[in-house]
Amino acid sequence: AEARLAAVYERSCLACHGRAHSGAPLTGDAQAWAPRLAKGMEALLLSSRQGLGGMPAMGLCADCSDADLRALIEFMSTKAKPQ
Ligand code: HEC
Repeated sequence: AEARLAAVYERSCLACHGRAHSGAPLTGDAQAWAPRLAKGMEALLLSSRQGLGGMPAMGLCADCSDADLRALIEFMSTKAKPQ
């Protein structure tokens, strides 16, 4: 499951969440994610499914389940920032 999700992340979320100035909160940037996480996981799942501003619906992962999205959000919002 980890390898499958890593592949999904690289093919979908990384394009924006791994690039500065895309407008997306960056993977591992705890400061950028703090106000998002404060909304609660249910709200983040909802905006992931429906899209929000520059964030496309489902984050370009049409076949992601809620569990997949939740795992990806947890990964992006907590991963230690590479030095
Ligand atoms: C095309 C670029 C793009 C892709 C691909 C993308 N995102 Fe995003 N994402 C954004 C942008 C831009 C925002 C900031 C939206 C805003 O606040 O206006 C965002 C915000 C978010 C948020 C915060 C939503 C909120 O309510 O604050 C979550 C969660 C998220 N993305 C999850 C994901 C996941 C999971 C994937 C991969 C499956 C993904 N994104 C793929 C651009 C992208």
